[in-house]
Amino acid sequence: MSVTARQIVLARRPEGAPRAADFALREVPLAEPRSGEVLVRNLWLSIDPYMRLYMAGSGSIHGSVALGEAMPGGAVGEVIASASNALPVGALVISMAHGWRDHYLAPAEKLQPVSAEVGPVQRYLGLYGLTGITAWGGIHGVLEPQPGETLFVNAAAGAVGSVAVQLAKRAGARVIASAGSAEKCAWVRELGADHAIDYRGEDLAARLAELAPEGLACAFDNVGGVQLEILIDAMAPQGRIALCGAIALYDSDNYRAGPRNLFAAIEKHVALTGFNAGFYFARAPAIIADLAAAEAEGALVNHETVIEGLAAMPQGFVDLLRGACRGKMLVRV
Ligand SMILES: NC(=O)c1ccc[n+]([C@@H]2O[C@H](COP(=O)([O-])OP(=O)(O)OC[C@H]3O[C@@H](n4cnc5c(N)ncnc54)[C@H](OP(=O)(O)O)[C@@H]3O)[C@@H](O)[C@H]2O)c1
Repeated sequence: MSVTARQIVLARRPEGAPRAADFALREVPLAEPRSGEVLVRNLWLSIDPYMRLYMAGSGSIHGSVALGEAMPGGAVGEVIASASNALPVGALVISMAHGWRDHYLAPAEKLQPVSAEVGPVQRYLGLYGLTGITAWGGIHGVLEPQPGETLFVNAAAGAVGSVAVQLAKRAGARVIASAGSAEKCAWVRELGADHAIDYRGEDLAARLAELAPEGLACAFDNVGGVQLEILIDAMAPQGRIALCGAIALYDSDNYRAGPRNLFAAIEKHVALTGFNAGFYFARAPAIIADLAAAEAEGALVNHETVIEGLAAMPQGFVDLLRGACRGKMLVRV
């Protein structure tokens, strides 16, 4: 069997915030699978902030996508033709590279088979994939909040943040969250946050001083930039910060820029620990089991924002970066 694949390619490098017109839809004929290969029809695609870093020119540690090249990303799909004994027709597979397209050819050994028994398969891109493993790694691998400790999470209505809030509450922490609108803050409180700050409408530093006058014991930072500087100033002595991401800097010339008040971490003996979900993937089965247990206890609610159709993906990505999303953003192909 051979098919024509539809792919979203990078059409131009954005300056500042990306626009849907920075991408283009391209059709590419795919050959029949050769020995060891499979042909996959994607069912679900992941949209993630790190993809912004692929659009940058050289110098991004995430590597640069060439103009005219298909964007990489996570995908769950079904094998529709196979020249591999390992993956028969009908097998469900995850690829971390073959998102942003509806079909692809790949060596079977590069793909990870998954079972539909855990429930909706798109979860492997969200709660049981990068999102959930990242939130788990930041909360349990880095911060290890103790009951009663005050823990702050920003971008808390997003994919990672909304899971981090719930895992921190389950661990017994007092949780302060922030998000970009009053509606998002109300939702984050529904998820269990004790307090939620609308950072666009309120003064984040002043509200943190009111809500945690003794300082924050823990902070889960998805945002970086000015918010990270506010957090460093808001930490209690010997506090700990999990550095998860720096979305506030992804459109800038230097997304790797550090905070200007780093010395305050020395003065207060604050630990800043960067972490990368990739370092937790080897523990994925145990982490997924813990996330599933949290759901079964009623301590964890999974929320997805679903975009319909590959052609809508560029606008979905633009909207994700602007904050027009709750929970995990996915594309149903
Ligand atoms: N370390 C790792 O291994 C790892 C893995 C996955 C993700 N990450 C990082 O984790 C962070 C969250 O990723 P995600 O997939 O869960 O995305 P997400 O939170 O679902 O979406 C991004 C959110 O960031 C907020 N945001 C955008 N620009 C902002 C700004 N200038 N200031 C404050 N908030 C801003 C928006 O929410 P508001 O409406 O609230 O502004 C938006 O909804 C990102 O930094 C990402 O790169 C790291």
